[in-house]
Amino acid sequence: MSYPFKISSEEDYRKAWNKSVKDPEGFWDGVASSFLWRKKWDSVLEWNFKDPDVKWFSGGKLNITENCLDRHLGLLGNQPALIWEPNDPEGHHRVLTYRDLYNKVIQFANVLKNNGVEKGDRVCIYMGMVPELAIAVLACARIGAVHSVIFGGFSAQSIADRLQDAQAKYIITCDGASRGAKEIPLKNVIDDALVQCRFVERVIVLTHTHTPVSMIKGRDVWWEDEIKKVETMGNPDCPAEEMDAEDPLFILYTSGSTGKPKGVVHTCGGYMVYTTYSFVNVFQYEPGDIHFCTADIGWITGHSYILYGPLGAGATTMMFEGIPTWPDAGRFWDIVDKYKVNILYTAPTAIRSLMGYGLGPIHGHKLDSLKVLGSVGEPINEEAWQWMHDNIGKGKCPIVDTWWQTETGGIMISNMAGITPAKPTYATLPLPGIQPVLVDEEGNEIEGNDVSGNLCIKHPWPSIIRTTYGDHERCRQTYFSTYKDMYFTGDGCYRDAEGNYRITGRVDDVLNVSGHRIGTAEVENAINMHAGVIESAIVGYPHDVKGQGIYAYVIYDHPHSGDENLTRQDITQTVTRIIGPIAKPDKIQFVSGLPKTRSGKIMRRILRKVAEGETENLGDTSTLLDPAVVEEIKKGRI
Ligand code: PRX
Repeated sequence: MSYPFKISSEEDYRKAWNKSVKDPEGFWDGVASSFLWRKKWDSVLEWNFKDPDVKWFSGGKLNITENCLDRHLGLLGNQPALIWEPNDPEGHHRVLTYRDLYNKVIQFANVLKNNGVEKGDRVCIYMGMVPELAIAVLACARIGAVHSVIFGGFSAQSIADRLQDAQAKYIITCDGASRGAKEIPLKNVIDDALVQCRFVERVIVLTHTHTPVSMIKGRDVWWEDEIKKVETMGNPDCPAEEMDAEDPLFILYTSGSTGKPKGVVHTCGGYMVYTTYSFVNVFQYEPGDIHFCTADIGWITGHSYILYGPLGAGATTMMFEGIPTWPDAGRFWDIVDKYKVNILYTAPTAIRSLMGYGLGPIHGHKLDSLKVLGSVGEPINEEAWQWMHDNIGKGKCPIVDTWWQTETGGIMISNMAGITPAKPTYATLPLPGIQPVLVDEEGNEIEGNDVSGNLCIKHPWPSIIRTTYGDHERCRQTYFSTYKDMYFTGDGCYRDAEGNYRITGRVDDVLNVSGHRIGTAEVENAINMHAGVIESAIVGYPHDVKGQGIYAYVIYDHPHSGDENLTRQDITQTVTRIIGPIAKPDKIQFVSGLPKTRSGKIMRRILRKVAEGETENLGDTSTLLDPAVVEEIKKGRI
């Protein structure tokens, strides 16, 4: 397969970027033309950021699965589309060719139809990293149902919140998921969630771990039984539903600075174009390359760079069920050698955790198939960058540091492997089509180089968030109202003398823990649910492996009369129950009060400094209601 939009030199990059700024519509018209459309668009772009109202390829008709599957059958039908490596290194791996994947998607799309799923219905997918997860996602897209994948680490309560928000009547899950030595009873978690969600009509359950489950009559069905029914119908075809470019493709929930996660909505046409375009260019994908993105499909990285981007490009994509440190810290390197992986796209937190095991687990591995390494999810520190460069890439693989977000749908700022220069800890330059700007607190654009500011994007790109599900005003407020006529990312950023961008971290109350976005308000709400807790405040602090750790200051009812550690465990358990294990505080400090201004606002700046270990220069504390509380907090630091 050829990619007419592929950039192949630095000069090409400059030219493409300049064209994309001078004539964005002409630029994207060109890129989109190499995809398969049932009907061409009437207009490339209609937009305003005030409402916001952004429409790409308006009037265009397509189905993303025809681009990811059907159109490859002729040339690539027998090529591997998806390679699956199980959690258990002794287990059977699976290779699905484009033809296999197509057949399985068609079959499961018919299962969905038989179970009453229609175009526009929301389908929640809560599965482990098994090939059927990819099949379920694509089957939804095939029939125009809107998928909403929920990461396997979220609790029953989080699932219930999301199901209610999306009003999802259909669920696809597994009996259980395997993650390292652990087994997660997914169906049980779903059952707990459904106590609150009576509107759910059907739960389709895949057998995977053989974890015992309770199947509710009339509501729950086995995946395998439903497949058999389609087989007895003679495996009929399932023509792709014709979708408008702006019809929703999926909802993915993500945390913000308020308590409730928001459902980021992406649409069919623009998302399809941007994910494949960015995949090919950033990783410089060449036909035949094996691409291994280690993310979970429960996050946007898995959506865009395990599934849609690579499949749109006719690539071979890998899916790994396990974790990098089980049964030992050589697991990634075993996989790279076993499948001759060419592109490895992972997260700084994984690298940092593997660095902790030293070079031993790398020894005995060739790693000579690797051509490109990638990093995503959080700023990569220089040490991790260098370690990856020297020990994994053996000094010869470019590392792409890709900055983007759930809301952006695809990679926005990144070097292009071997084409534009890398600079450790810098995401470097925007992709053609992306216009980043730095602004000051008042929203004035900060021009020139060697400057810092809040990162915004000036002009729409095809995979920009369209709305937050069920609450468009929230989308406007969060992303488009802080600065006029710009999309606000929530990140702080530095632009160096050469114009390279370096992301410095969130400027809002959002933490980034092991590359996962966690809203402080969400965690505080969960802690406050615990009996005995009067109030709490969460801040991030630097953590060697996770990037940021969660530090909780908690005012507790009967001050530590009992066992403090037991209380800590109870609070942690409450957070696990309300949100999930990913939001567990790393440190809990009991305090008698929180530093508040006279208007009652918590001064997080002070809490952050204490958590970071800075107890001297806490800045101006004169506006505090009770400055004495700061002394106590400093003394009690953990
Ligand atoms: O703060 C930035 C950080 O992750 C945030 C987006 O999180 P999420 O929507 O969960 O998506 C993660 C995967 C795309 C951003 O606002 N972030 C992501 N990539 C980078 C990064 N920070 C620095 N460098 C990156 N390469």
